[in-house]
Amino acid sequence: MTRRTLIAANWKMHGLRGDLGFIGELDARLGAARPDAGILICPPATLLAEAASACAAHGFLAGGQDCAVADSGAFTGDLSAGMLRDAGASHVIVGHSERRAGHGETSVLVKAKAEAALRAGLTPVICIGETLAERDAGRAEAVTGEQLAASWPARGVAKDIVVAYEPVWAIGTGRTASLADIAAMHAFIRAAAPGGGGAALRILYGGSVKPDNAAGILALDDVDGALVGGASLQAASFAAVISAAQSRRHGLRFADN
Ligand code: 13P
Repeated sequence: MTRRTLIAANWKMHGLRGDLGFIGELDARLGAARPDAGILICPPATLLAEAASACAAHGFLAGGQDCAVADSGAFTGDLSAGMLRDAGASHVIVGHSERRAGHGETSVLVKAKAEAALRAGLTPVICIGETLAERDAGRAEAVTGEQLAASWPARGVAKDIVVAYEPVWAIGTGRTASLADIAAMHAFIRAAAPGGGGAALRILYGGSVKPDNAAGILALDDVDGALVGGASLQAASFAAVISAAQSRRHGLRFADN
């Protein structure tokens, strides 16, 4: 089963229209060294339409960072998955830990958002991952397994879904999980994919992915790409992370970090 690599930028609440030169610069920096991978940029919603046209012109994908459950209606301030699609998105991140923790989003809500994404023709990027306390208590698999099962859209098929494993304690902290832990968690998630279609499921790793650790992470068998926060804000560092995906094609293997 070949799963196409996906390298995704989550800009979070960063970026103004004047920053969109990033997209052309990224293309120029990748040049001929562009790996065979989907490259997805998830800017803030205010930039999505403009970013999506630029992304299309440069062979990149664009995505949202969140969507509403409903398709339309009296939901002031919310954006439907259909609106994101209309603005040019192909993907939408749902259930990011910053929304689970900061906005009280439960897996029940995340599941409904993933279903809304699929209804609109978007690929949901469902984020799961344990806190440090949960890992220290030996509950990393139990917690992520529960999140995976409870966030999975009804009748969802693995090939239409992306899961991002983002251990909460590795996000924005400069700490990454060890390669052995990442490999074990990704293998666990693949085996636990609802419906048994794990072989077709793309599983991204996220949490302090940087140019200097990306090649080792992306070389792991069950890692199908990365969801990158801080290092995706500069074209130079994001290009370096993307270029590290070459390690997958060459089948390199790295010692644990
Ligand atoms: P950092 O790469 O800044 O740790 O963020 C990861 C993340 O949350 C991506 O969604």
